[in-house]
Amino acid sequence: MVAPLAEAQVFQDRLLSLGLARVSEAAAIACAPLIGRGDEKAADQAAVNAMRDQLNLLDISGVVVIGEGERDEAPMLFIGEEVGTGKGPAVDIALDPLEGTTLTAKDMPNALTVIAMAPRGTLLHAPDVYMDKLAIGPGFKPGTVTFNMSPSERVSALAAAKGVSTMDITVCVLERPRHEALIEELRGTGASIRLIPDGDVAGVMHCAEPDVTGIDMYMGSGGAPEGVLAAAALKCMGGQFYGRLMFRNDDERARARKAGITNFDRVYTRDDLVRGDVIFAATGVTQGSILRGIERAPGYITTETILMRSKTGSIRRMSYRSPVR
Ligand code: FBP
Repeated sequence: MVAPLAEAQVFQDRLLSLGLARVSEAAAIACAPLIGRGDEKAADQAAVNAMRDQLNLLDISGVVVIGEGERDEAPMLFIGEEVGTGKGPAVDIALDPLEGTTLTAKDMPNALTVIAMAPRGTLLHAPDVYMDKLAIGPGFKPGTVTFNMSPSERVSALAAAKGVSTMDITVCVLERPRHEALIEELRGTGASIRLIPDGDVAGVMHCAEPDVTGIDMYMGSGGAPEGVLAAAALKCMGGQFYGRLMFRNDDERARARKAGITNFDRVYTRDDLVRGDVIFAATGVTQGSILRGIERAPGYITTETILMRSKTGSIRRMSYRSPVR
């Protein structure tokens, strides 16, 4: 029999979540002076420093499983870095201190700071390769859309499930040359396409609130680490997510092997990527359609954070006003 964990080691998601919100808030506030300054690297570095400092104040024994990169390429918040005071529960941390570095540098919509926390060993250690992604919001039968369907079949299937015409479906897609054929096929269905320049974590999250965002489905490839973060968000908000890793060369396959991946063709569901309870926090950096961006006024700065727990499905939106010294 496994001995019960001491109180301090249990994943107290309710208590930890408020600490997690402070972590994403701190990263966003650190980016504030760098919004629209044309310097992606400086904005990212400011977010990384602040996120790491704040994360290290939490009473957790955390390990970064989705982070800034491998140890040899990222000096901080690298994959495998231990974070927290070491006095609390063993947890996996997935983070993107600034999701949308270019959006921030150009002051374009929907840049976020993002972090998720889950019991140790429950988040997929996704390698830094592309992932083909497919997401819809809550309220549909499992398998309403699948990777086995062509993009146009997915639009028809979702339209049928919603009882609407394909013309009433809006699909969000990253605007990239690699998506030209996908976009052309989707246009053939009559569906509307919301093209985004960056930020597919936010893109996927948009599917969970179609009445607010106007987005019904997300499709296309982006970073695999962002896929795990998006799955964590949808696990809290409701919705279906599928992801399949994509490999362009042997180096990428080697990265996957190093991360413990053996089946290169596997389609991961949301719950394969996030196998247990998860808490998720994101703070708006630039103005966005799911979160307000940072607002600056003389003497203070205001942020908006979404804080969610999959165990209860609770979603908190927190406005935080911080004096600027
Ligand atoms: P950064 O914030 O690291 O710049 O990533 C933004 C992003 O758009 C992600 O949301 C997305 O998953 C990925 O880049 C797509 O990669 P690529 O730009 O190579 O298509």
